[in-house]
Amino acid sequence: MQTEILGNAEGIKQHGNVLIIKTPEAEARVWVYSPTIISVCISREYREYESFAVIQEPADKIDFTETDKEVVIATSALQLRVSKSPLRFNFYTVDDKVLSEDDPRFGVNWQGERVINYRKLVADEKFIGLGEKTGNLNRRGSSYVNWNTDAPLHGVDADPLYKTFPFFVGLHSGLTYGLFFDNTHKSYFDFGATTDDQMSWFGADGGDMNYYFLGAQSVPKIIEDYTWLTGRMEMPPLWSLGYQQCRWSYMSADEILDIAENFRKEKIPADVMYCDIDYMDDYKIFTWNKKTFADPKGMIAKLKAMHFKLVTIVDPGIKVEKGYKQYDDGIDKDYFAKYPDGEKYVANVWPGRCHFPDFFRKDVREWWGKSFTALTNPGVEGFWNDMNEPAAWGQNMPWLVKFGDKYMPEVRNAYGMEMAKATYEGTKKLLGNKRPFVLTRAAYSGTQRYSAVWTGDNSAYDAHMLLGQRLVNSLGITGISMVGVDIGGFSGDPTPELMVRWNSLGVYTPMFRNHAQQGTIMREPWVWGKKNEDIIRKDIEQRYRLLPYLYSSYYQSCQTGMPVSRTLAINYTGDENVYDVKYQNEFLFGDAILVAPVESTRFTEEVYLPGGEWYRFSTGEKFKGGRAVTVPAPLTDLPVFIKAGAIIPMQNVIQSTSEKGDGLLEISVWYGSETSSFVYYEDDGSSYDYQKGDYYKREIRFDPVKGEITFSKVEGSFQSKYDRIRLVLHGFEKNVKTTNVRDVIFNNDRAAIKIDY
Ligand code: GLC
Repeated sequence: MQTEILGNAEGIKQHGNVLIIKTPEAEARVWVYSPTIISVCISREYREYESFAVIQEPADKIDFTETDKEVVIATSALQLRVSKSPLRFNFYTVDDKVLSEDDPRFGVNWQGERVINYRKLVADEKFIGLGEKTGNLNRRGSSYVNWNTDAPLHGVDADPLYKTFPFFVGLHSGLTYGLFFDNTHKSYFDFGATTDDQMSWFGADGGDMNYYFLGAQSVPKIIEDYTWLTGRMEMPPLWSLGYQQCRWSYMSADEILDIAENFRKEKIPADVMYCDIDYMDDYKIFTWNKKTFADPKGMIAKLKAMHFKLVTIVDPGIKVEKGYKQYDDGIDKDYFAKYPDGEKYVANVWPGRCHFPDFFRKDVREWWGKSFTALTNPGVEGFWNDMNEPAAWGQNMPWLVKFGDKYMPEVRNAYGMEMAKATYEGTKKLLGNKRPFVLTRAAYSGTQRYSAVWTGDNSAYDAHMLLGQRLVNSLGITGISMVGVDIGGFSGDPTPELMVRWNSLGVYTPMFRNHAQQGTIMREPWVWGKKNEDIIRKDIEQRYRLLPYLYSSYYQSCQTGMPVSRTLAINYTGDENVYDVKYQNEFLFGDAILVAPVESTRFTEEVYLPGGEWYRFSTGEKFKGGRAVTVPAPLTDLPVFIKAGAIIPMQNVIQSTSEKGDGLLEISVWYGSETSSFVYYEDDGSSYDYQKGDYYKREIRFDPVKGEITFSKVEGSFQSKYDRIRLVLHGFEKNVKTTNVRDVIFNNDRAAIKIDY
């Protein structure tokens, strides 16, 4: 195999905003994107590259200085020092601290088409990120492959899974950096797993060594930069934050309506019902089974009357069957993926033999998008994209299959993302000013712009529940805030205890969906006996109480990319304990709620509380942080803690997000000795009017020194759906709260305040 290692620089030229450095083997291009982001693309044969992920353009200019030995590209926040002989890329802070350096011996190299970058490993270096990857929070000592894969019945160590996010954050010496390797080929990351602790490396089977180096000095800022580069989510429809009930499959409209009715009868809040593959006629996408779903419009109208939304599944595989519109259209217009001789690629999925739309083509995406009328006309507003790795019953897709002008190995990892994009763009048009809800299984960096994700076919046992939480937390680092796991476990049957426990964790999962495989026992809240049903109801009610807080947390995701579920490594990066395998599943839900997942067989748990003070949510008990505490964890009370200083808006229990509620916004403040603040955000929860200023936003601040809680003036033109605010103070000395709350009353320009002590 021909092996080439990047050699000495031979020529250095600036062309506008790009610096081009040539060696005998290759050429490197360097752009500055922002003071904290520099990109490097090293290629043997430079081609214009269109990224699926990156939506920003580089800055107009690049400043550099050159000496005999090196070229230095310095911004106000980051330095790239390129040593010339041989060509190596080393990143430093502005005060000359090493962030990350090429391995001086091997740097960037090629073996055949494979391109690899070996980098020096720092003794105390930790790594977090890569999205949907099993293993520990700290990925040091592990290696991973990105190759979007249908992974039914996967174990808790399986790799690869469904998605590709070639982005990680490196942490050492109190410093932070991020590295996004934007390459959709099969890719590899090795965090010191196979190199005797000498090097870390990453690379791909083909394409260029094309990466973005993020040099901001905090994990939140790195996430902000990464999501600036790759985009952020839009405000989700409020209904998608409610409880979602799914199953493979509810077999008829009657069954769906019965289940929905039962939620109302049992007074268990819920917003969403799902149709899995059996609603279709013979698994033909964009059709309805004429017998079992004879009147979709009627069914959806009945669901609407009960305040439910419907989400329907679509898979990419189009059944090979003359007379089926999607098939005929696809053949006529040549929309399906092909072999180089023009023959269409065929593989087996649910409908039997299928062709696969070439979502890499704009015309195909538009056609796909328009086809959703079959679902939107009767009233569907949520679109679940499955099997889009793409899956073909475990078969490998031949490398000769072509998408657009590229072969499968180059773009496979972006297929699911392009399907989600087609679905999002198409349904957004069809729904007018309404926000579609799109959910996808396969994804690549940037998918957050189009879709929520779930973590695929998990299993009904405790270790899988804990793994699921790590996946959610890790996806958050890579820009995916709206993520769910199949609550209860897709494969297998949970014990009632596991169901109850997992549901209580679901309350604090960004997308809260209960789903199960065909052939498993039913999963709805009432099948677990009255005692368990009561616990499940109470937990789901808690989710609905927290909606104002959750919605504001999603607003943060839209503004800064900060995910709703945050591994403690985001905010407590320097605290070694958060990487301890005992505590690594813990996370912050939004700014201020710490959740400790607990197995269903344990009823006391050791929980690590980072520095500061914490209050147990359920009891108000106060704890000093910076240590582990052992706390009761009965099935009725998952260990959930509130950070001192937290400001958390809540509402009364409603049965669905389309209910207005009692108009009272309850804002809880937990006493803390440091100033704290919260940005409260609200809009109509369903349209795009917020993008034109029709929202309601205000900052609430608590200053313990001045003894003041202040509400900023309202920003935006939206009329809040709450007409009263009640402040609920926790852990306050009486004299503090009285004076200060009075101030709040008069600072508040439009709400009548009632104070509860
Ligand atoms: C896949 C999906 C699962 C779905 C099933 C049937 O296994 O991951 O969620 O229920 O297909 O459509």
